[in-house]
Amino acid sequence: MKTLRSFTLASSLALSLAACTTTSPQNDSTHTMTVDTDDSAGEINPHIYGHFAEHLGRGIYDGLWKKDADGDYIIRDDVVDALKDLGVPNLRWPGGCFADYYFWQHGIGPKDERPSVVNNLWGGVTEDNSVGTHEFMELVAELETDPIVVGNVGSGTVEDMANWWQYVNHPGDSPMSKLRAENGRAEPWNVEYWGVGNESWGCGGNMRPEYYADLYRRFATFLHPYEDVKPFRIAAGAAGADYNWTDVVMERAGDMIDGLDLHHYTIQGSWETHKGQAVDFDESDWFELMDRAIEMDEIITGHKEMMDKHDPEKRVWLIVGEWGTWHEQEEGSIPGFLYQQNTLRDALTASVTLDIFHQHLDRVKMANIAQTVNVLQAMILTDGEQMLLTPTYHVFDLYKVHRGATALPIDLDQGQYRYEGDSLPALSATASRDDEGRTHISLTNIDPNVARTVEIDLEEMNVSDVKSGRILTADAMNAHNTFDNPENLVPQSFNGARVEDGTLIVELPAKSLVTLEL
Ligand code: AHR
Repeated sequence: MKTLRSFTLASSLALSLAACTTTSPQNDSTHTMTVDTDDSAGEINPHIYGHFAEHLGRGIYDGLWKKDADGDYIIRDDVVDALKDLGVPNLRWPGGCFADYYFWQHGIGPKDERPSVVNNLWGGVTEDNSVGTHEFMELVAELETDPIVVGNVGSGTVEDMANWWQYVNHPGDSPMSKLRAENGRAEPWNVEYWGVGNESWGCGGNMRPEYYADLYRRFATFLHPYEDVKPFRIAAGAAGADYNWTDVVMERAGDMIDGLDLHHYTIQGSWETHKGQAVDFDESDWFELMDRAIEMDEIITGHKEMMDKHDPEKRVWLIVGEWGTWHEQEEGSIPGFLYQQNTLRDALTASVTLDIFHQHLDRVKMANIAQTVNVLQAMILTDGEQMLLTPTYHVFDLYKVHRGATALPIDLDQGQYRYEGDSLPALSATASRDDEGRTHISLTNIDPNVARTVEIDLEEMNVSDVKSGRILTADAMNAHNTFDNPENLVPQSFNGARVEDGTLIVELPAKSLVTLEL
């Protein structure tokens, strides 16, 4: 699908962090930008940088965990170390679709007594429940992250979910806290973020929003607050542009919802026939995927309108609980395992998407890219004992500086990336100031052919110099890391920014992402 999509960010102008001008640039490769350091668009919630780990493919088994010499699953230190370096604000588990098939009771107690089930959703493989609640909580503790547990609404009962909540959170004397203690954990884990079903319009039960809203109310009622933990109740949100779902669920259950979990993937090609390839693509595929990624802005805008109707105070978080690129899985990988490579193209869709989240930070407070290891747009790929960091990992690393920082409104002439008579905004950006007063600017140029010069007026910014810069770019559109060459695409130091007469001039190469510290 090719559409003229220039200047779409103007739709969120009022609260926009990267509001764009409506004037055309003098030529296609020089662009102006201003940053309003006196004003603030609000805090970039660190939870926007959240992750997701489902019992799917090699995400859990052979991803976050591996077998030791005795055949028992242990946490993979190399993977955990890399994730700790990145910083993981939250981790969503056990699904995804798997959540509505998951009976938590199968995953507690002695491992040799845990039943095996078939993971019909993802490859029909045997799930022996080696990783259950205690193991997940151990991982969360190692990662020093906030768990997001998604309960089973589709095939479970209210009692099941209420008992799971009690099992992980009850501080005193209760049947479930006793059971937890018998299984080796006396203290509650105090899990706050709790999903009430996943994609209940689809794999989570094929429900209509009216029905789900009532069911949600019922399930959510039994998540009782305890002394040290109050549930943050997350309702299943819409699929992509299904605004009616949001309208109905918010109208009927909004008073009991703390977060609404929208899912939207970026695909090239179509769900029905063929999705695009992760590595083997041409410029038409590049353009199409970028176009699809930018759609996130329109989709969030549409859902915000619905949420504003029912929650004008913006109490309820819009959570983009699953996002990222979804390609045909790698040839030769196990069907249903959704294992895909990750190139510079994926990386730039990620930076553009993060910019969009920042532009909507009045409502978007949490997001989870799918999925952490070996599944879809992963941070990390593993092969036996080997591991590599994907280009998307490096984007999250370059964007670390914006987490929890104050977003600064910007006015950017985005220019146009033209391809065969169509065009997209070429540039995307985020500017923020951290607690220590440092200003960071990230700039993405999605145009694979044209380098761009961005001129940033420093007069109002109270900064005088560029302290450092890093860039992610490559000659090839499909540059990626392999187990033979894991550092083929990594951030490099960037020296293409200079200050001249109070103007910061950034020479942004084609298909690149740059983060500067000022
Ligand atoms: O992330 C893969 C799947 O995509 C999830 O299980 C589901 O929620 C979504 O449709």
